[in-house]
Amino acid sequence: MREIGVGLLGLGVVGSEVAHILLQRSERLSEQVGASVTLKKALVRDLAKRRTYPFPPELLTVNVDEIFNDPSIDIVIELVGGEQPALDYIRRAITGDKHVVTANKEVIAKNGYRLLSLATQHEVDLRYEASVCSGIPVLSPLQQDLAANEISAIRAIVNGTTNYILTKMAREDLPYEQALREAQELGYAEPDPTNDVEGIDAAYKLAILASLAFHTPVRPSEVSREGISNLDPKDFTYAHELGYAVKLLAIAKQRGETLEARVHPALTPLDTQLATVDGVYNAVQVEGDLVGTLVFYGRGAGGRPTSSTVVADVLTIARNIAMGGIIKPRMELNRRIPIAPMFEIVTRYYFRLSVADQPGVLAQIARVLGDHRISISSVIQKELDEAAQTAQIVILTHPSVEQSVQSAVAELAALPLVNRVGALIRVEH
Ligand code: NAP
Ligand code: HSE
Repeated sequence: MREIGVGLLGLGVVGSEVAHILLQRSERLSEQVGASVTLKKALVRDLAKRRTYPFPPELLTVNVDEIFNDPSIDIVIELVGGEQPALDYIRRAITGDKHVVTANKEVIAKNGYRLLSLATQHEVDLRYEASVCSGIPVLSPLQQDLAANEISAIRAIVNGTTNYILTKMAREDLPYEQALREAQELGYAEPDPTNDVEGIDAAYKLAILASLAFHTPVRPSEVSREGISNLDPKDFTYAHELGYAVKLLAIAKQRGETLEARVHPALTPLDTQLATVDGVYNAVQVEGDLVGTLVFYGRGAGGRPTSSTVVADVLTIARNIAMGGIIKPRMELNRRIPIAPMFEIVTRYYFRLSVADQPGVLAQIARVLGDHRISISSVIQKELDEAAQTAQIVILTHPSVEQSVQSAVAELAALPLVNRVGALIRVEH
């Protein structure tokens, strides 16, 4: 039986699980592949660190050259994380004619197109299924099983940390700060939660999903982004009364000759599957012209779920090597679809205004919206604070242009009878 050597960069949350499976299930995996798949070395920073499993000491190294210079290593798995040195390591593996598997969304979202070109030149494979939604296989279905479809839209919950926080806020009426603290205590949110709560992580994942679904390179910097830190638990209650859940959605949609790519909190109808995705779970809804609507759902983080897709990518490459097949990374990004500017998008909007409880206030609000050609679908007055003589006005609009809505909001905020625009949330049907 031919031996296929594997080198692992990183032995942390995901790397430890990957190493454990490659060692423990070696016989079964090798049978599936038709060649022996052997983990040769694992790169760490600290040899003395306590690991999740008792790995043989000779497996570990702090010298990356032991992996790159070993001709018996055919596949390098990058699980170091972050942009550098991970990017350099991936480049070095490819230029050394080694196949690469990675779970690194930041590297792939920012550099995937160039890395795939480099891999093509070197006739090696570069696979990255785990970079989006961890254990949920969604990139491979987009590239293979759905290849006959024209995809018109992707709507997804791709960040488990923010979905956990939003679920807490909705169910327990918690303020954002408290829900975030709980997520940090449970180890879901990082001590610095910026990447998750500001939608940066979701924008990386959407850039990867949209590039594959629409066959066009989408850079993370082209994804419009708004985080969850300004959300108020009041809006979860009001949205629910109106028939919606509040979710951080990653949305990519074809609109005419352009593509919308955006990450922001969105009112999501309660009768849709995305509205029912709670806690740290992820879901990706894909609309294809042949297949209709599909939803991929599961655990979007964690060492074991992520190891499932990482090891599957290793096995795919190993099988190709064993069969002597010509291995080429799939890179059908042969379209160039411009990204639509955010101010052009058309959707429905939810507003909450804190206003003086005086005659004529609704008429003033309606006039401003009318001047900006924004049509009201429903309006509700909530929570009269008698002592302060203020009320909350909740407005749902018909589809309106983002630029008009932003101008109207600025004008509304300047009205003497409006104390504050408490919320402006887009609605996604
Ligand atoms: P992690 O727990 O922080 O592990 C990182 C590992 O890389 C550690 O073993 C560390 O060594 C090693 N390392 C870091 N910098 C290094 C350097 N400069 N040189 C050598 N070794 C270095 O990270 P993780 O959670 O496993 O994540 C790995 C990748 O998977 C990331 O790209 C992440 O985005 C992705 N991912 C993670 C999850 C998840 O749930 N965790 C889900 C999907 C995707 P020491 O152990 O010696 O410190
Ligand atoms: N921080 C990410 C999340 C981990 O919360 O979904 C998986 O990429």
